[in-house]
Amino acid sequence: MSEPVVITVRDNGPFLVKGPAQLVDAEGRRIDVGSRSDFVLCRCGHSANKPFCDGAHKQCGFNSDDSTSRID
Ligand code: FES
Repeated sequence: MSEPVVITVRDNGPFLVKGPAQLVDAEGRRIDVGSRSDFVLCRCGHSANKPFCDGAHKQCGFNSDDSTSRID
């Protein structure tokens, strides 16, 4: 049995996807993630390489402020 895909919501940063996930666009076409089993997805909207994070969230001062949506 394979391990589940784990998506980590990073504070003030991207989504870290770990595991055998498939990434598809709005039409269901696969997006190449290369040979990587882990990848990071932009959620700040400033990446020049969307849907992947390129680190631009640091320069734009992205503030996720999502602490109210956490389940403890
Ligand atoms: S979250 Fe990293 S560039 Fe957007």
